Amino acid sequence: MSKSSQGRRGRSKGGPRARTLLCAEGCGCELSEGSAVIRWIDGRRLMFCCADCADSLEERKAPEIRRTLNRWVRPGCVVWDVGCGRSGWALELARRVGPGGSVLLSDPQRSAVRWNVDRLHAALPNMEVQGVATSSVPAASVDFAFVNDVLCCARAPEGLFRRISRSLRPGGVAYLRISRPRSPSVRPISSAQWRRWLGSGRVRSEGSATGVRWAVWSPTLQS
Ligand SMILES: C[S@@+](CC[C@H](N)C(=O)[O-])C[C@H]1O[C@@H](n2cnc3c(N)ncnc32)[C@H](O)[C@@H]1O
Repeated sequence: MSKSSQGRRGRSKGGPRARTLLCAEGCGCELSEGSAVIRWIDGRRLMFCCADCADSLEERKAPEIRRTLNRWVRPGCVVWDVGCGRSGWALELARRVGPGGSVLLSDPQRSAVRWNVDRLHAALPNMEVQGVATSSVPAASVDFAFVNDVLCCARAPEGLFRRISRSLRPGGVAYLRISRPRSPSVRPISSAQWRRWLGSGRVRSEGSATGVRWAVWSPTLQS
């Protein structure tokens, strides 16, 4: 990887190599080791973004996310960022639901959940933010589940989909997005499986782009 695509690496005079990197997107943000977000852009690995730049890259790639949040995430909502990873979308969700709402974060990678919880507590100290086990989210408790590139990374996507479906309260919706495998951690989701999931409830909106499908979906037929 070229130096420019990875950001500059600092070196203290005469001492050991300083362990800081600058965000590869050039925003000037200094990344501490472990806080960088690794992104895959158009199948190419682009490393060491800060979470804000990763979000804006994601947004350019997926403008429907912003439209979906505008439409469905309201102050006071309970939102669940399923498989949050080190994405900064959790911060965006938290800003939108505000102190009257709450944010649940789950991911098998506990360090990613901790990273996001700490980040949210620091930015929004009055918010209710909880790191949770995916299996422990109560039934009919969530207004908005954000499931961005997670079903295609889960070992048991069918079971995860059922949990998400159960977690939604009447009127609640899930933003579901899957991507075509472009790294070993992404598994193919067949068109038939995707249609089966969507067919088990009501599709509020859906779309696709190269290698990506998304839908805003609710589990029961609601008027
Ligand atoms: C491609 S990353 C997407 C991260 C984040 N949602 C985003 O928008 O950048 C996939 C994430 O799904 C998580 N994951 C895998 N299996 C999961 C499961 N069964 N439940 C919840 N998260 C899961 C992974 O640990 C990883 O952080």
